[in-house]
Amino acid sequence: MQATTLIESFRVDGKVAVVTGAGSGIGKASALALAGAGATAICADIQDDTAQATADEIVANGGSAEGVALDVSVRTDVDALAQRVVTDRGGIHIWCNIAGIMVEGPFLEAPEDDLDRILAVNLKGVFFGCQAAGRVMVTQAEGGSIINASSAAADAPSPDIASYAICKAGVVQMTKSMAVEVGKKGVRVNAVAPGFVLTGMTGRYFVRPDGTIDEAMQEAVVGPMRRHTPLRSIGEPEDIAAAVLYLASDAARFMTGQVLRPNGGVAMV
Ligand SMILES: NC(=O)c1ccc[n+]([C@@H]2O[C@H](COP(=O)([O-])OP(=O)(O)OC[C@H]3O[C@@H](n4cnc5c(N)ncnc54)[C@H](O)[C@@H]3O)[C@@H](O)[C@H]2O)c1
Repeated sequence: MQATTLIESFRVDGKVAVVTGAGSGIGKASALALAGAGATAICADIQDDTAQATADEIVANGGSAEGVALDVSVRTDVDALAQRVVTDRGGIHIWCNIAGIMVEGPFLEAPEDDLDRILAVNLKGVFFGCQAAGRVMVTQAEGGSIINASSAAADAPSPDIASYAICKAGVVQMTKSMAVEVGKKGVRVNAVAPGFVLTGMTGRYFVRPDGTIDEAMQEAVVGPMRRHTPLRSIGEPEDIAAAVLYLASDAARFMTGQVLRPNGGVAMV
């Protein structure tokens, strides 16, 4: 491939991209990145006001987007969104399963309700998204690209987040298992496994209920993360969005069943 063509292959002009969890953090940054590279971003989130805010930001920047309410744990809703996007937009080329939640607590005391809740969103929600997107993409001449959010927590377990890590490890296997089935139809399935990124999910440790930041608590959380990371830094949502954009684009046309690890080097697998 010529150099100019190679650079252009990172663009996603004219593609339709669904991003779950697009109201915040990594999902929001991914929607902005995909739209910035030319895609129409369907910004989906259980918090529809935040999904709409991301879409509004994209449109204000001159891009194409819409915000939609979606609970990824409700299969019929995920299927309905996929069908509606096909009807309205003519297809789905990129689907990013980024929505996720965290539950914490010691393994030996984990309540069944917590386990069910996180499995429903972080594992079944990704499964439903993969199925809904995959069923559309296998029928399209141009195929498609699915990107799932795993986590460094699956590579390097930490205490008190076993159920979260189990989901993220399951996402890796789901990605590989699906990839071997749909590759011949031109559908690629990959995952990103981010290290620690400052978002709503991780901000819960130090963002007070009124939205202000407890800086001492922030340093108590982030300081050790930095020190234990070879690059001595934590990530920003855009660091993960860059990997999502690459996997979504034709630049990654030979990549499937893979896990990209923008994690500062905290896990090397
Ligand atoms: N932040 C990190 O350090 C980190 C590290 C590794 C992996 N991840 C993963 O990246 C993904 C995004 O996390 P983030 O840090 O941006 O978190 P975030 O909390 O900032 O964003 C998650 C978004 O998902 C949405 N969401 C939650 N449940 C949903 C549901 N049932 N249906 C639809 N949307 C739902 C939330 O409303 C929120 O907007 C998650 O899957 C997370 O596990 C995050």
